[in-house]
Amino acid sequence: MMKKKIPIELHVNGESFELYVSPNRTLLEVLREDLELIGTKEGCGEGVCGSCTVLWKGLPIRSCLTLATEVQETEILTIEGLATEDGSLDSLQQSFIDHGAVQCGFCTPGMLMSAKAFLNRHQHPTEQDIREAISGNICRCTGYAKIVEAIVEVGRRKG
Ligand code: FES
Ligand code: FES
Repeated sequence: MMKKKIPIELHVNGESFELYVSPNRTLLEVLREDLELIGTKEGCGEGVCGSCTVLWKGLPIRSCLTLATEVQETEILTIEGLATEDGSLDSLQQSFIDHGAVQCGFCTPGMLMSAKAFLNRHQHPTEQDIREAISGNICRCTGYAKIVEAIVEVGRRKG
């Protein structure tokens, strides 16, 4: 049975959106279907693969396991908000390109968001720290080496 829609306000990538949603809809569904922010990917849909990762109050969350109603009126950052307004890529995005860390690209948005949250909070990460930080993000193509290299490079520049 269709649940009655309720009004919510989401703050995504610096913009506010007033929406009517069924209380059982996930943040992932609302981002992709209502806000048309399709950069956030649905892989497993059950909290395993990390492809749906977005930042909530600066922390990585699985948007497939999060109800849209749970994250109202608090800052959400998706892959679409990572580049600056003038279109310049975030240093992590550029590093992924420079290191050839993208193959099919399906895992890339979630990987970038996890890496972003981690580097925002850690000044001198080791390679092992970085491997742990992205351990919840599954990549079926790259073997991870180039992804790790790309993140290490940005972490090194920060340090
Ligand atoms: S789609 Fe959310 S963890 Fe896989
Ligand atoms: S680049 Fe294809 S899943 Fe990671």
